[in-house]
Amino acid sequence: MSDAPVTAVKKTLQHLGERIRSRRTVNLFLQQPVSRQLILDAIEVARWAPNHHLTEPWHFYLLGDEAIQQSIELTRIVVTERKGEKFGDFKAKEAAARPGWLVVTCKSSSDARLEREDYASVCCAIQNLNLYISEAGLASKWATGPITRDSRFYDLLKIDSDKEFIVALIWYGYPKITPTQQRKAVSEIVTETD
Ligand SMILES: Cc1cc2nc3c(=O)[nH]c(=O)nc-3n(C[C@H](O)[C@H](O)[C@H](O)COP(=O)(O)O)c2cc1C
Repeated sequence: MSDAPVTAVKKTLQHLGERIRSRRTVNLFLQQPVSRQLILDAIEVARWAPNHHLTEPWHFYLLGDEAIQQSIELTRIVVTERKGEKFGDFKAKEAAARPGWLVVTCKSSSDARLEREDYASVCCAIQNLNLYISEAGLASKWATGPITRDSRFYDLLKIDSDKEFIVALIWYGYPKITPTQQRKAVSEIVTETD
């Protein structure tokens, strides 16, 4: 019997493992436009994340040029308020160099356990999305900086903070510089029991 199918599965697994390993958080992006359809395709895939009770707790806000400009200015304001004008200008300049902006929210719930499980699902969805765009040659940065907790950002995107909360601001684009990363040895993080 041919072992071709086994070899094909091994290759697929190697490819998948390498994709997961090589996805990196990127700070610097090329000024190269990204197809909106590609991000919509990534969102379509993202929502297949595991999700207890199938609550589908996620919502994706894909920002257009006007909302991006407003978000850059809000970054300047929020950071200036906290750390002064010089740092505010620096952060606004940094933000202006990020080509794509996507905000992911999770449904709020008065049931703490449900909200925790929903949050976990949204995080899985974000990882799905990040892996998908990584496979397409893009990179991203998951940010949870002060702007993501500011009511003015919610207002700008018309997000009802009584109903949902921001889990991630995802900047995406084609990477200019891809950093390296490390993880602990598997033996340090695994306990095998009898
Ligand atoms: C919930 C969450 C929040 C994060 N928030 C930030 C952030 O605010 N700023 C930032 O620089 N990176 C943020 N990151 C990215 C991490 O810093 C990054 O994943 C980590 O450095 C490991 O790098 P890697 O993603 O390339 O493996 C966040 C990641 C997660 C999962």
